[in-house]
Amino acid sequence: MKTRKKENWGSQLGVILAVAGSAVGLGNFLRFPGQVATHGGGAFMIPYFISFLLLAIPLSWSEWALGRYGGRCGFNSAAGIFSLAAKGRKRWAYVGALGAYLPICISMYYLFVEAWCLAFAIQYFTGILASLGLNVPSFLPGTNGPGLFLGSGEAYSNFFASFVGANANGSLYQSADGGFTLTPLLGCSIFCLILNYFLIYRGITKGIEAFCKVAMPLLLICSLIILFRALTLPNPIDQPGRTFLDGLGFMWNPTRPGVTIWDSLSNPEVWVAATSQIFFSVSVGFGLIVTYSSYVRETDDIALSGLTATVSNEFCEVVIAGLMIIPPAIMFLGAQAVEGNLDTFSLGFNVLPNVFEKMPCGQFFGFIFFFLLFLAAVTSSLSQVQPSVALLEEGMAYGRNVSIFISAIFSTIGTLILCHYSKAMFALDTFDFWVGNFGIIFLAILQTYLIGWIWGTPRMIKELSGGARIKVPFFIGPIMKYVSLPYLLIISGFWLYQNSWSRFQTIAEEPLARMIVGFLVLTALFYGYVTWKTLKRWKEEGKDLVRIARESDEEWVIKNKNQK
Ligand code: ALA
Repeated sequence: MKTRKKENWGSQLGVILAVAGSAVGLGNFLRFPGQVATHGGGAFMIPYFISFLLLAIPLSWSEWALGRYGGRCGFNSAAGIFSLAAKGRKRWAYVGALGAYLPICISMYYLFVEAWCLAFAIQYFTGILASLGLNVPSFLPGTNGPGLFLGSGEAYSNFFASFVGANANGSLYQSADGGFTLTPLLGCSIFCLILNYFLIYRGITKGIEAFCKVAMPLLLICSLIILFRALTLPNPIDQPGRTFLDGLGFMWNPTRPGVTIWDSLSNPEVWVAATSQIFFSVSVGFGLIVTYSSYVRETDDIALSGLTATVSNEFCEVVIAGLMIIPPAIMFLGAQAVEGNLDTFSLGFNVLPNVFEKMPCGQFFGFIFFFLLFLAAVTSSLSQVQPSVALLEEGMAYGRNVSIFISAIFSTIGTLILCHYSKAMFALDTFDFWVGNFGIIFLAILQTYLIGWIWGTPRMIKELSGGARIKVPFFIGPIMKYVSLPYLLIISGFWLYQNSWSRFQTIAEEPLARMIVGFLVLTALFYGYVTWKTLKRWKEEGKDLVRIARESDEEWVIKNKNQK
């Protein structure tokens, strides 16, 4: 079997930090609290944990196994790896190409939100955001006690809307007289693009791994600082009797006055929301883990690495983000104000600045919070770019620099579209729906089918067990085949039924939605063309996927026999 591996992770710790960094991102610190608040607090956590056990763990393990198998056979792109796992069938290369296409499209809006976080961190650092609401009258005029009170929420919402250009298209680069101006957010967006592509250019070990080795511990320190502050917050003076425990109760108690567990669990929307949160947060179904794990060595322990990365992600999401964002928000605003009224960004960008303002050293804590969001975002966006670079480099033989340049062009066009069409975040929402929700679920279903029913779960478990210091439970295989796949199909069926009609209607009615979907289709055609060219080139070079797959199958059978 031909083995071609250009790059490897430098160390096992490095790959764990890189994969954990890919998972821990804005989904943990912004999306998760918003979802919990919107879908009934504790009741949301039950389907959330069920999805974690039935989908996140088996699927992420299966991606690790598939990736290392592909890497060993000389492939780093999901296109090559999927086709190989499907015994060389070419159509699976196109499915695998989604593993480069979806992440690069996600990176377009992810980089934009990453820039918001950096820009907010800078605003805090320079002091602009620390005192924004001070002159706005509080709803308890004259209160002068030792506690906190919130009266300037509107000031922060207004600031946020104008800062991210939600009031008008073009406002991120147009001055009042219609000329060009480099707003802080536009500057940060350009900086984030350059930073990401510079790190990718440095390579797997010197770029991604080196950055994650510094960023992940720093992120943990920043989170612990904010967590400490959240846990030591004084009670709000305008809400006597409301404490941090009320916030904890909201997040963990599945029942509320007048709402039973059954009321919440019988609502399919809560299940859909929990599943999509797990997907986004753990980064399964993106094609990312497959690409990252194709760079591990055969002797590396992928079972433990995979589990460590997934559990670290949950720790950051449920323990850290869950404690540092939801309870303070509930404590100050109350469950009624929070529940059902918060979108992905409100808690982080509107509510928390409001809390920071009223606390001692709020400027410092505000800076730390947004800096930690920025770090989390960079480690994730890096992993969204690498699969595209891997496909172009491996399939088209363009060389690393050209592959990076082409990927950068796509990210830049997408990010610039979002910088221009910033009004009401409609463009961002359209991108997120079609690639971040629809695309991911689509790829996850196909990938689960591929691993469960074509490549085979015995192969997956064997691959996972190679070099493993933990025993991979045998029931992961049947769970993948008989539970994860049907579960995914039911949830996604309901989700499509719920959303697709209105989204197709939006495409018909809104020119901007048509333009964005058109851009996404053109990008998809490009990646389809790349895959077609790749398959053709491999054939011409004698790199026969059917043969490589057969040889690897034979090798597997012999290995198995010897071990019996
Ligand atoms: N998993 C990444 C996040 O949570 C995409 O932001």
